[in-house]
Amino acid sequence: MLMGMSSPRKIGQVLSSPVPGQEEAIQGWIYRTRSSGAIVFAVVRDSSGVIQVTVKKGNLPEGEFEAAKSAPVESSVIVIGKVFEDKRAPGGYELKASSFKLVGGADPFPITEYQSEELLLDNRHLWIRSREQTAVMKVKASVLEGARAWLKANDFTEVTPPILTQNACEGGVTLFKLKYFDREAYLSQSAQMYLEALIFSLDRVYSLTPSFRAEKSRTTRHLTEYWHLELEEAWTDNDGNMEVQENLVTAMVEQVLKDRQAELRLLGRDPADLKEVRPPFKRVRYSQAIEALKAKGFDLAFGSDMGAVEERAFTAEERAPIFVTNFPREIKAFYMKEDPTDPATVKCADMLAPEGYGEIIGGSERETDLGTLTARLKAQEIPLEAYQWYLDLRRFGSVPHSGFGLGIERVVRWICKLEHIRDAVPFPRTVARCYP
Ligand code: 4AD
Ligand code: MG
Repeated sequence: MLMGMSSPRKIGQVLSSPVPGQEEAIQGWIYRTRSSGAIVFAVVRDSSGVIQVTVKKGNLPEGEFEAAKSAPVESSVIVIGKVFEDKRAPGGYELKASSFKLVGGADPFPITEYQSEELLLDNRHLWIRSREQTAVMKVKASVLEGARAWLKANDFTEVTPPILTQNACEGGVTLFKLKYFDREAYLSQSAQMYLEALIFSLDRVYSLTPSFRAEKSRTTRHLTEYWHLELEEAWTDNDGNMEVQENLVTAMVEQVLKDRQAELRLLGRDPADLKEVRPPFKRVRYSQAIEALKAKGFDLAFGSDMGAVEERAFTAEERAPIFVTNFPREIKAFYMKEDPTDPATVKCADMLAPEGYGEIIGGSERETDLGTLTARLKAQEIPLEAYQWYLDLRRFGSVPHSGFGLGIERVVRWICKLEHIRDAVPFPRTVARCYP
């Protein structure tokens, strides 16, 4: 609150409990204005919504009327006025201004109604003020809130792994290399190996960090920097880990449904679409998924990877996420544990979001045997030096353990029904863009 002001209320509060005739103070930004002679209609927005302000010559000092008349879009203002019902106004009520103070003027706003996607991305620092972007950010905050609450209730401790690392967790192809004094280092692709080290003191851990992937692919689901929620659990196999995943994702969705139904609707997502997100999620083996896709006309064989196109086709008819388990060992990371009941495969699961959105989680049980792990690193031609500390985890009291990584923007894209993942993050980093 600014000094000397009667306490302002959020626009959303004024509109949700309107008291006709009551004086209210609001503070926000000009969303649009139009004027006809002695009257100005200004729509003002803040983080909670928009309200119409009617500014009539003679009802307030002349200078303030002139300010309202000439205030450009995105000027910041403080308005005091009485609440009146007006069926045509957004929200059904308006403020009749008795005071209109311009706080910060504005240059002509570079974003108008019909803009190219490129111009919006160049002006991302301004475009994030839009109602759609605001709604997405609120949904994202609720996704994180739901996750943290569930993790706390289930005894997971939040930890802070490093971002600068000398290990490639997910393969060399997508590593961002940097000069680290006289050595080479990378930006982290995944906190997994550090979380594996931390279960020996804390049993159940998770971290929320940026992860970096030098993905050359220009797709609607790849960022080069994304927020990664990762979890690792001692004394748990792949099945136990999948239960954690489905309960966690359900908790995220429930938090959004509890707090953000209006935002979902504004984004074109019917909240009812998400009602079927309830555990247990379907479990399908990779080999069955390949057969199902072959039946749809895909030219695949055991050993083919499932990319975006295959995942889209496979999940198009689903209404809740679905697990695909037991991928072939050859196409998965070195640390995944072989399934003794089906040794061509590993004890892993990808969680695919429904409606074609595809992979949101990658997880597995971890290989605990030192000899097997070393052999797999060698087979994938990964130099062992940088992994000695990781191999130590198998030398000192190794236990069965499992974990996973969830891409926050992938989840937000699905929940908000967004066309492109870049709209799930305020300042997207992609192959094409690192500005603003
Ligand atoms: O499947 P990924 O590569 O698995 C790992 O990194 C494991 N080490 C995680 C773990 O077990 N701790 O990535 C995990 C998830 C994916 O399922 C996806 O949701 C997201 O991270 N992700 C991306 N999100 C946005 N842009 C990208 N380029 C992404 N790459 C992966
Ligand atoms: Mg994956």
